[in-house]
Amino acid sequence: MTEAVRYEREGSVAVITVANPPVNALGLAVRQGLWRAIDRFAEDDAEIALIVGEGRLFIGGADISEFGKPPIEPYLPDVCTHIERSTKPVVAAVHGPALGGGCEVALGAHYRLAIKGARFGFPEVKLGLIPGAGGSQRMPRLTGVGPALEMMPAGGSVTADEALEIGLVDRVAEGDAREAGLAYARELLESGAPVRAVGTLPRPADDAAAFDAARALWQKKSRGEVAPLRAIDAIEAATRMDLDQGVHEERRIFLELMETPQRAGLIHAFFNDRKVAKLPEIEGIAPRNMAHVGVIGGGTMGAGIATACLLSGLSVTLIERDAAAADKARGTITANLDAAVKRGKLPADRRDATLSQLSTVTDYAELSDCDLAIEAVFEDMAVKHEVFARLDAVMKPGAILATNTSYLDVNEIAAATKRPGDVIGLHFFSPAHVMKLLEVVVADATAADVTATAFALAKRLGKIAVRAGVCDGFIGNRMLATYRGAADRMILDGASPWEIDAAIKTFGLPMGPFEMSDLAGLDIGFMTRQRKAATRDPRDVVPTWADAMYHEGWLGQKTGQGYYVHEGRKATPNEAVKPLIEAARAGRPQRSFTPEEIQRVYMAAMVNEAAKIVSEGIARRPLDVDVTLLYGYGFPRWRGGPMQWADTVGLPSLLTDIKEWSKADPYFWQPAPLLEQLVTEGRCFADLNKEAAQ
Ligand code: COA
Repeated sequence: MTEAVRYEREGSVAVITVANPPVNALGLAVRQGLWRAIDRFAEDDAEIALIVGEGRLFIGGADISEFGKPPIEPYLPDVCTHIERSTKPVVAAVHGPALGGGCEVALGAHYRLAIKGARFGFPEVKLGLIPGAGGSQRMPRLTGVGPALEMMPAGGSVTADEALEIGLVDRVAEGDAREAGLAYARELLESGAPVRAVGTLPRPADDAAAFDAARALWQKKSRGEVAPLRAIDAIEAATRMDLDQGVHEERRIFLELMETPQRAGLIHAFFNDRKVAKLPEIEGIAPRNMAHVGVIGGGTMGAGIATACLLSGLSVTLIERDAAAADKARGTITANLDAAVKRGKLPADRRDATLSQLSTVTDYAELSDCDLAIEAVFEDMAVKHEVFARLDAVMKPGAILATNTSYLDVNEIAAATKRPGDVIGLHFFSPAHVMKLLEVVVADATAADVTATAFALAKRLGKIAVRAGVCDGFIGNRMLATYRGAADRMILDGASPWEIDAAIKTFGLPMGPFEMSDLAGLDIGFMTRQRKAATRDPRDVVPTWADAMYHEGWLGQKTGQGYYVHEGRKATPNEAVKPLIEAARAGRPQRSFTPEEIQRVYMAAMVNEAAKIVSEGIARRPLDVDVTLLYGYGFPRWRGGPMQWADTVGLPSLLTDIKEWSKADPYFWQPAPLLEQLVTEGRCFADLNKEAAQ
């Protein structure tokens, strides 16, 4: 086994290299290696030490896979203090990211050199934690509390130049970290630079106003997430305590957070982001070439998809039915790109060149050169059939034909072509150039390299792809239909739409289901109900008040009223909906709901449907459900996802509730067989994720 930390001499400089691929995480071997290297440096005649990271970055932080397990000595705070207490100077030369513990190791050193392209950040809150090795105590001693308050509660980072500006580093250099670091170390030696421990610098000045403002901001922003506020507490400790006490207090908060379900949920989400693309069916399969994308339809969705492709450097040919519609689509895409410039997603000087990669056309023949065509036309099977037959006629061999349908049968769409192996569903979420989720809907005949290409496309577009199978609504919208159904039933039983929205927001979602209806437009739900009417089970519940609202012309935000009356950005409950709901409730017994009951019913419906989706193979693993809800439906990341939530609250109690509710409504509350099986076997969804990884 190669050493995780190497110690070498370059004349009077001791070079300590962290070499723990892929990200030089500070696992036990690295912590032990750093400790021993500092001891060795103390004993030999080297005059200065240089710490560098091998590979593409300095240090990616603590080893996240160790979190949740009993920590083993030496602990990272002690390693940083050990570095700081060296009686001979220590320099850190940072290239690429220095995150969390990586930043803290650099702060333990006496001098910091940043190589252009370096990033210094404290992402711990994104894992439900705060810096745990003195970062919250040392950084403010160098920069004052302001920059720390900006960075730590947000989990943010700064560039090399910004780090220099705020005093986090001493110098910025170009080139190789080891070479530039050696030059800097020798220069420090020549100038007789002393040991300069950050921890011995005076405490940063307290700034009550800055702390009040940060707390007010994060109280509002964090929606139930605790770590950002606790990071502020830790920074405040630095203004009141000497280093040892402060590091102790920081560690106390860190360990307290380590025990929370929020930390477990966020780490579950971190690893899922990476596991979701690991599918045996595409492992080792090369994706097809992709440079030129055709988009069929230039409405909001088509224009959004085209924008996403252009922003990632692909050429786009967009087809519309006539020149006027094509011009309109171009206008929408231009506006999207302008907005991307404003948001800093596209450099202003790249805007025209990006737009020049777009052609808007009206003739299908112009798609003949495309590697991939994505259809985003009206959701109607006959229309889709026509489009796919035309695509089949013009697209070159080997091109991929994709549909952006959000619920239609992709097998049936593929049947309109002579090449079903090249057909796949690419379900984008609106606005497609902003939303991160891409549901990759794999049909019966879809070739493995077509699926692999869809995952590669998602990566290129900066999106997270989830594999889904064919069913009405795939993973996300099928679950949405069910938990919406649960919300509608609660309305019939006595809850108000506004109570439900409030309870769901308290749970951590950005919006409740009825606010969502107003945003999407009540016509969408109405159309869906119409579509499903012919096959609806007579025991199903129809929200007749929502139909009545549709007939009143109350379509939500776009008409100024729906469940809410919308005036500018202000939304107030629409009292006129109440009589419509009353009429629908006629004769049903009514009761009141606490916010907790609302959350419980809503979430149980979500999890029960998801368990069915997993057992049918529509989602391969529970983690695919979690990622879908996180990136497509605003599910709070700190809860990890609905399946992680279910594991946290316990599957037996959920099943007991579902069985209880099924006495009154046996049609809606049919327990998922998978849920019953897991409870019988004493297992949970995480066990299924683990089994799938083996
Ligand atoms: N501990 C353990 N494993 C880590 C890790 C960490 N701190 N950071 C990354 N990894 C793993 C990833 O899970 C991935 O494993 P896999 O290949 O088995 O899927 C691998 O290292 C590469 O990571 P990836 O994110 O794909 O590489 P990247 O080059 O895109 O990004 C980082 C590198 C360091 C910027 C990114 O991984 C990151 O942000 N890591 C988290 C850093 C962090 O939060 N540190 C503070 C911990 S308190």
